[in-house]
Amino acid sequence: MAVDLRTRYLGLELAHPFIVASSTLTATLDGVKKAAEHGASAIVLKSLFEEQISAELKKQENQIDELSHPEAVDYVQQMGMRIGPREYVELIKDAKKAVSIPVIASINCVSASWWTEYAKELELAGADALELNIGIMPQGKEDTASHIEDQLYKIIDKVVALVRIPVSVKLGPYFTSLSHVAHECFRRGVKGLVLFNRFYQLDISLEAMSLKGGVAFSNPNDYTTSLRWISILHGRNALDLCASTGIHDAQTALKLIASGASAVELCSTLYKNGYKVIQEMIQESSNWLASKGIASLSELKGKLSQKTSPQPEAYDRVQYIKALTGMY
Ligand SMILES: Cc1cc2nc3c(=O)[nH]c(=O)nc-3n(C[C@H](O)[C@H](O)[C@H](O)COP(=O)(O)O)c2cc1C
Repeated sequence: MAVDLRTRYLGLELAHPFIVASSTLTATLDGVKKAAEHGASAIVLKSLFEEQISAELKKQENQIDELSHPEAVDYVQQMGMRIGPREYVELIKDAKKAVSIPVIASINCVSASWWTEYAKELELAGADALELNIGIMPQGKEDTASHIEDQLYKIIDKVVALVRIPVSVKLGPYFTSLSHVAHECFRRGVKGLVLFNRFYQLDISLEAMSLKGGVAFSNPNDYTTSLRWISILHGRNALDLCASTGIHDAQTALKLIASGASAVELCSTLYKNGYKVIQEMIQESSNWLASKGIASLSELKGKLSQKTSPQPEAYDRVQYIKALTGMY
């Protein structure tokens, strides 16, 4: 039985749901080509960091330090916006020439300042979509949930007003009410959510008495927070949901599709197990669907989301109940 794995994500027609996530794997043209050669259905480029854009402008500002009156600085900033970190724009252009799969640009952002204009440059360079990787660290006592969410919406509003390509937002799992945030994103013109980013992990070296980076990669059982939220959010509006974190094999990917994901982004498994994983996932997904008599991925999509469930309350459960789980 031939199984149709095609899926639509952000209006893009993908041959199957396996996308290479934004990471060092997709930071270079060689990386992009490698992902395409191994059969990825799309790639998300390594994020361009807001700080990189600022740093480039600082460099240009310093060059005109002698001139340094406000208009000169303004001029240089605008020039910077137009040119931006040139390498990233060039990477998009080169990637679009080199591969036929969609190339999704990514910007890591924490504020909605002038740099958002830069999104337009990425669109002009040929990006098929733009993923906003937004992670705002609420540290201060004034950082209420609504303050943080407002920052998120300001970024979204600015970018959505600037570009015509679809915009997705990649979030972390730490929100007071993700259903509300998701709906606001949708209302503001966002086309998709990537759930969830796995942020840089902070750790301590007791030996050196200093900070160090924690384990960079996820484990195969780290997917359940994404699964829960995709299940809950699927079908509530027209947002496309893309799963990220802890997807290391075909079985997990299929669970995420059943919960309502349109696509899945792969990262840690590619680092740990190599690019062969993509073909294995395609093959195993096809085999499993065929074994269940399911002819297409779209038939599976959302089959076990909260909306379609005869037991919707099961998705809201946050505590163990012995009678139900039989465990504790
Ligand atoms: C080395 C490395 C670099 C990453 N860089 C980015 C990045 O620039 N932008 C981004 O949105 N996510 C970045 N990520 C996060 C991944 O895209 C992905 O969301 C996360 O690793 C969870 O997926 P996984 O469990 O498949 O690894 C990075 C992850 C790793 C391990």
